[in-house]
Amino acid sequence: MRAIAFDHFGGPEVLGIQDLPDPEVGPDYVLVEVTAAGVNPVDTKVRQGALAGAFPTAFPCIPGWDVSGTVVSAGPAADSFAEGDQVVGYVRKDSIGAGTSAELVACHLRHLAPVPAGVDLVAAAGLPLVGLTAMQALAKLDLQAGETLLVLNASGGVGTIAVQLAAARGVTVLGVNSARNDAYVRELGAEATIDYSAGSLPDQLRRHRPDGVDAVVDFVGGDGLAAAPQLLRSGAEGRFCSIVDPGVLEQGGRYAFVRPDSAQLTELVGMVGDGRLRLEVEDVMPMERAGEAHERVESHRTRGKIVLTV
Ligand SMILES: NC(=O)c1ccc[n+]([C@@H]2O[C@H](COP(=O)([O-])OP(=O)(O)OC[C@H]3O[C@@H](n4cnc5c(N)ncnc54)[C@H](OP(=O)(O)O)[C@@H]3O)[C@@H](O)[C@H]2O)c1
Repeated sequence: MRAIAFDHFGGPEVLGIQDLPDPEVGPDYVLVEVTAAGVNPVDTKVRQGALAGAFPTAFPCIPGWDVSGTVVSAGPAADSFAEGDQVVGYVRKDSIGAGTSAELVACHLRHLAPVPAGVDLVAAAGLPLVGLTAMQALAKLDLQAGETLLVLNASGGVGTIAVQLAAARGVTVLGVNSARNDAYVRELGAEATIDYSAGSLPDQLRRHRPDGVDAVVDFVGGDGLAAAPQLLRSGAEGRFCSIVDPGVLEQGGRYAFVRPDSAQLTELVGMVGDGRLRLEVEDVMPMERAGEAHERVESHRTRGKIVLTV
């Protein structure tokens, strides 16, 4: 099969098309013919070798954990899927090497969810990692309808989904993003936004919520996360969660590291199917342009997702 792969860690230039053996499929696995592979910041960190201490890596290494496509075959214990089914997956395995930027990928049952009719399979490839991350980070905050949540980085891949999930639950959302994304984040369901480049975050928040917010979720780290304890109302101490910096635990907050969850992914893609969740894809590129896609993602300027078609 053809795949995007690299033989050593490095910059986007290490990515290239390679001809590699088709994946083998065990009893709990499904072989998926890939339609599209979403690109995430973590894929660029994998390429740089920044996750080498956390995951064993095999070369040639195919990057990518997000996928959409069609089932080619299913192992004997994977009988909830059949040839021809359209699926979406967050295919994070215990090692790195057999990723999703390829014509074929072997996916464990726990990675996958069926895609309802009417959902665009290319756009759906941008959902799994960010959708599950948003859902699992919000779950750490136990939000109730009527509460106010501040979202640090409301316009990126994870923020785009988190704003919508929280708003759909009756939570009032305030987004922290640049002015160019103000209208976008409000369309997603935020009541108001704060420009991260327009001065002190605690001072700006005080104009919207003089007593602070009920919870903060962090998708960017840095100064906003450092200020999180000052952004919370009295009585909400510790109700902040970061997906970027595990050091948040020493600040008294919570940390979320996304894990595959078939039931949650089924719920998310179902919400897309019935129009409750909007997918924002900034660009769709053929997989031959994977290096350019990685550069774009590494710029930290994308709105929503970049997706590679295979
Ligand atoms: N722990 C986990 O399991 C987990 C899971 C997923 C992601 N992550 C991490 O979480 C982070 C976010 O992921 P993502 O996919 O959402 O990223 P992303 O899509 O690359 O985020 C890009 C967005 O960030 C905005 N941005 C840049 N600087 C900002 C700032 N100082 N304040 C607010 N917004 C800012 C940009 O808006 P402008 O262009 O308008 O500036 C852009 O829209 C990444 O570091 C990623 O590695 C962790």
